[in-house]
Amino acid sequence: MYQKIVILTGAGVSAESGLGTFRGKGGLWEGQRVEDVATPQAFLRNPELVQNFYNARRRMLLEQAQPNEAHLFLAEFERRFTENGGDFLLVTQNVDDLHDRAGSKHLIHMHGELLKARCTSSGKIKTCREDLTGTQWRPHIVWFGEVPLEMERIYRAIEKCDLFVAIGTSGHVYPAAGFVELAMSTCSHTVEINLETSAASSRFHEQVIGPATVSVAQYLQKLLL
Ligand code: APR
Repeated sequence: MYQKIVILTGAGVSAESGLGTFRGKGGLWEGQRVEDVATPQAFLRNPELVQNFYNARRRMLLEQAQPNEAHLFLAEFERRFTENGGDFLLVTQNVDDLHDRAGSKHLIHMHGELLKARCTSSGKIKTCREDLTGTQWRPHIVWFGEVPLEMERIYRAIEKCDLFVAIGTSGHVYPAAGFVELAMSTCSHTVEINLETSAASSRFHEQVIGPATVSVAQYLQKLLL
């Protein structure tokens, strides 16, 4: 059985908590140009537009979203797997805090966190549950053109893992979309769990199709037996 597991999650894991995904019908980027709200240039050009986009998402997260069965199962899986001596790392592209609230501990938010703000002059990071205005504090979010967080740690974990699982991510955004190739190159087994076949499906050894709230437990449960 597997000893070292890395799991990557994307917007699909939070979709059933009511948080929109980015691509596809009704997605966050539909009707919204990425360059207008999710780049450093956009923040320089029109900080209020950018702040308002993230203010609305932050409010939605705090007022309406709860961890779903997939977040909860991942946290429970981690607890039981690590208790038995396994190595586990959950890497999320999501900026929501639903994995945190579900109880995940070995967790990296590679694209930042909506509930944190970063000072644009000192780089200091603080908790943020309120709306932001102006340019002194920006959302602690990795925008397009910026380098994702903790990449060294992530690459090290993928290089030595024996199972890599990607859940609810379309495989369009690098470097996360390239993790599966790295895992393959070091001989780990690779599995994709997604609502539908994605752009990246053919790059995985195995595919589990279905909503994350059902398919995550369905697949991971077998590894605990
Ligand atoms: N269960 C499982 N998968 C789902 C579900 C669900 N209930 N609902 C949607 N999905 C799948 C979609 O089929 C799609 O493949 O989740 C994926 C979501 O893809 P994207 O919207 O592209 O989200 P993600 O891959 O996380 O985007 C990566 O892009 O815009 C940036 O920084 C942003 O972190 C984000 C990155």
